[in-house]
Amino acid sequence: MNTDMTVLVTGATGRVGRRVVESAEAAGLTVRAASRSGAVPFDWTDRSTWAGALRGVDAAHLAYLPDVGAPGAAEAVGAFAREAVAVGVRRLTLLSARGEDQAHATEQAVRDAGAEWTVVRASWFAQNLSEGPLLDGMRGGELVFPAGEVLEPFIDARDIADVVVAALTGGDRFTGRTLDLTGPRLLSFRQAVGEVAAAAGREMTYVPVSARDYGAALARFGVPAEEVEFLIELFETNLDGRNAKLSEGVREALGREPRDFADFAREQAEAGTWKA
Ligand SMILES: NC(=O)c1ccc[n+]([C@@H]2O[C@H](COP(=O)([O-])OP(=O)(O)OC[C@H]3O[C@@H](n4cnc5c(N)ncnc54)[C@H](OP(=O)(O)O)[C@@H]3O)[C@@H](O)[C@H]2O)c1
Repeated sequence: MNTDMTVLVTGATGRVGRRVVESAEAAGLTVRAASRSGAVPFDWTDRSTWAGALRGVDAAHLAYLPDVGAPGAAEAVGAFAREAVAVGVRRLTLLSARGEDQAHATEQAVRDAGAEWTVVRASWFAQNLSEGPLLDGMRGGELVFPAGEVLEPFIDARDIADVVVAALTGGDRFTGRTLDLTGPRLLSFRQAVGEVAAAAGREMTYVPVSARDYGAALARFGVPAEEVEFLIELFETNLDGRNAKLSEGVREALGREPRDFADFAREQAEAGTWKA
């Protein structure tokens, strides 16, 4: 394990990035935590921030916002990855999404940049229900989401972070690999909300809607039209059952089982995350 390195973590205040920072620091790496509001200023849409973010960096973890498969993602990630390699960055990890065809060009841009690379394809994060845009609905006792009754292998963002750090420090074992990461259990969104409700000791319901209706609601909240169209397509394809299977990725990478959704629900309930 090579921990004598400085790693740039993009999306460093996000659900996964924050935990990559914690996991990397715990492993003894020097971390540059980057985002628009982060300790190291970095904006995917402002190339003037890129060189400063890359200063003194040996390895970088890439998380593209708003989504790894969004329009423009492959171009921006590819340009950044090539700039990173040009200034001496040797190793890159990319947070990608399982079953997301729209993300393939972004993944390929990282593979082609000239660094040692690992693509980490993750399933749906458990933490989507405890942090970020869905939290308000959960606190209000209702998750409205276009997932029907599809089964999803919810993964704990801490496991993704641990795999990213293993890939950054683990040398050849992870180089040139695309890792498929899931949690240990398939759950419908209705079952996931049910487990959260049981852990939180309150009533919570899941309300499935169509991707089109969900997109219309996002547009009313001010999400730009192009992003809404992308998200509708993403929900219609990525939540069609293609991800309703478990993978061995976490066990292979870390030599242990992935964390279970029930543990996430219990810990977050104890922390008061879903108090009304
Ligand atoms: N949600 C899922 O279930 C899932 C599953 C698989 C893959 N993914 C992928 O995971 C990534 C999202 O990760 P996450 O959920 O951990 O993120 P998140 O919680 O949504 O947080 C977003 C992070 O990115 C930063 N950010 C936002 N816009 C930025 C910009 N223009 N330039 C630079 N930084 C920016 C934010 O900080 P600032 O506001 O300070 O910039 C923050 O650190 C996406 O690429 C998505 O495709 C998501």
